[in-house]
Parts: sequence; structure tokens; C-alpha cells
Amino acid sequence: MNSAPLFAQQVSSRLEIPDMGIWPITAQIKRARLVDGDLIVDWDDQKSSRFLALWLREQCPCTICHSDITRETLIDITDIPMDIQAMECRLDEMGYLLVTWSDQGHASRYHPGWLRANCYDDWARAERGHTRPTWGCDFTVPEFDATGIIENDDHLYEWLTALDSYGLTRLQNVPLEHGRVAHLAERIGKIRSTNFGTVFDVVSKPDADSNAYLSVELPLHMDLPTRETPPGLQFLHCIENAADGGESRFADAYHAAKILKEEAPDIFRIVTTVDYCFQNRAVDCDYRASGPLIKLDSRGEPIESRINTFLTAPFTHLPHEEVKAALEAKHYLMRLLNEDRMRVQFKMAPGDMVAFDNRRALHARTEFFPNTGHRYLEGCYLDRDDLGSRLRMLERAKTIAKDATR
Ligand code: OGA
Ligand code: ZN
Ligand code: ZN
Repeated sequence: MNSAPLFAQQVSSRLEIPDMGIWPITAQIKRARLVDGDLIVDWDDQKSSRFLALWLREQCPCTICHSDITRETLIDITDIPMDIQAMECRLDEMGYLLVTWSDQGHASRYHPGWLRANCYDDWARAERGHTRPTWGCDFTVPEFDATGIIENDDHLYEWLTALDSYGLTRLQNVPLEHGRVAHLAERIGKIRSTNFGTVFDVVSKPDADSNAYLSVELPLHMDLPTRETPPGLQFLHCIENAADGGESRFADAYHAAKILKEEAPDIFRIVTTVDYCFQNRAVDCDYRASGPLIKLDSRGEPIESRINTFLTAPFTHLPHEEVKAALEAKHYLMRLLNEDRMRVQFKMAPGDMVAFDNRRALHARTEFFPNTGHRYLEGCYLDRDDLGSRLRMLERAKTIAKDATR
């Protein structure tokens, strides 16, 4: 079958099926063929994609298989025979792929942009599997203007892209008013409240229920390792920082993982596999959770850390012979994180806000001296999911805008 440049111009990124997705046409289907009941799509840029019949049938976008109201699947997927085969395939005049299945002659129609975006060949997985860059002491923290972020979605997108990649960003010109931290966080999504409130004040106070609310030095840590899923993002807005001390410090737990893997593989194995325990006991709550200090994904890349030395609970689940190695590994990791090569440090000025990935960019504060001046930060948390969702929504809006001008 010849490629048909005519339909290449006609087909829109938007699916004519119940799917909110926007699928830019980055390549056209030149030819579709059947091999052992699977489907092979040959693209006009010399690449090919092989789709397992069962995979493709499960994704059928027709309105029997999917509700065009909810955009969710309607069929019981176990009704699809495991040995389903594609009986026939061809392209329609728009360049969509039409498939007829051995499953009672069911017919499916697939958008070429969707097929290309979702194919899973070795080359496609390699293109998509990006690893986030890690950072040490020579990192220049990306800075953004808060006014632009409030007013303009392109600025918001730039900020969120940096936050997603590096897990640490800095905003300037945040007005010195209460509620501004929430206002900025809500550009992303819903604030995650905790036992410390929806928005929390970081000030030294006599009835402190966290070390953060004393004036002592806070070692590198993440907040709320005591939760099954600790908040993914943290925002701290500096309203006053007149006291001596009170500098902010950060270190990238993903960078530490990379170094450990090379320099101390035995330590790496322990901190990525042993569960460490955390607790937060207060008058009105008693939270506990455990997990590896650094958690890896199925590719062996770090996806989160659970590190905090002032909310440590005792190990109660390890046999005596393993406790020493687990504690030594934690010391090793903490010493590494505190090395100069890992450290990013600055003093926040009033109007600054730091936004960081709480499960990746560990934060610390040097001691401050309340008798020398006021120090006051306002903070809140969000989940990582909301960052991912907002980024995808902004990308969707960009694609729609681009599509409309074609
Ligand atoms: C916190 C915290 C840092 C600071 O509130 O969890 O780490 O600079 N605060 O006071
Ligand atoms: Zn269907
Ligand atoms: Zn903290």
C-alpha cells in the first residue's frame, strides 16, 4: 500500500473517539500487515511497530468498548479470548488503521497518532525512558518570577518542567502576604493537608510539635516520612528571615543513589532494600511508616527517598545480625549527603519561595537565633500526581492550540 500524503494533512490530532487525548501526527502509517495474528505497522519514517493482538484489541476505542461519556472501558476484558487474532487490516481514507478481529468479527479503528505515541517497540521505549538529571554542588537552582507564573501558562509550564526534572526550583517576587504559598501551589493542584494543617507556619514557638518549629539546626531531611505516601512536593515561602542563621540547604537523593551505586555497591544494596522505620508521635496523632531509604523503580532508577534522622523509629523487624549493617549503611548515606560535593546552600530572602520534590530533594536549615530578628516561612504540600496531571494538561492545551492553527 502506498503512503498517502493527502490524509497526512487531513487527520487531526484529536481522536474521533471517546478519548480526551491529543495525539499529534508525527509519522504516517505507510503500510499495515499481519504476522502470526499480531499487527505490524510500517511508518513512513522507516520505523515499524509490532502490536500484540490482545493488547490492541483491549485498547479498542469504539463506543461498545468505551463509554463516550466517561471515556472509560465498558467491556469485561476477560471476555476477549487470550488467543485473539487480527483477521484483516487496512487503512481508511483518513489514514486510520482498521482491524477486524477473530473475536466475533469485532472491528476497531485506531488513530495513527495514538498508535505512534503508544507503541512499545525497543526503539520507542528507549526514546521515552528518560532519566531525570541529578545534581550536586555545581547546580544552579532554576529561578522563576512568581508574577509570571500566576499570570501566564507558558511560564507555569517552564517552572513545572524544571520542578519535574530537577526536583528543586526557586521563585522570586512572591508578595509578602499570607496565603501566597497556597495561591502558587494551587496553580498546580489541590493542597494536601496534614496534621500540621493545610498551610503551615514555620516559626519558632514554645509548644512546638516538630523540630522545624524550634530554632535548632535541621539536618538534611524530608517531611512526613511517617506517611505511607509522603507528600511529593513541598513549598516554603519566606516572609521574614531577619534572624542570624536560618540558611537553607539541599541535596539530591537521586544523585546520592548514583554515587553510592558506583562507590559503595554494598551500601547501595542495603539502603535500597531494607525497610527503615519512622514515627511521629504527638499529643493528637501517632503516625508510622517504613520503607527503603532510597526506592528504585523496575529499571533500577531511584524514584523516591525516605530519609529523616529526627523521626526515626527503632527497627523491630530485623534480626540482630542485620541491624548493624542497616545502621552503618544509613550513617554512610547521611555522611555522603552531607559532603560538600552534594551541597546547595543559600539564605532565602523575603519574597523567595522554594518549591521542591519532598521525596527527592532533601532540605536542611542552619540554626537561627530568634533574639537577632524574626524568621517566618509559610509552607504547604502537594502530591506528585498533581504536578504530572497539570503538566499533561498544559501540554494538551499547547497541542490543541497548535492543531487549531494547522
Ligand atoms: C520544615 C523545614 C525549613 C526551614 O518546616 O519542614 O524543614 O528553613 N523548614 O525552616
Ligand atoms: Zn470495540
Ligand atoms: Zn522540613
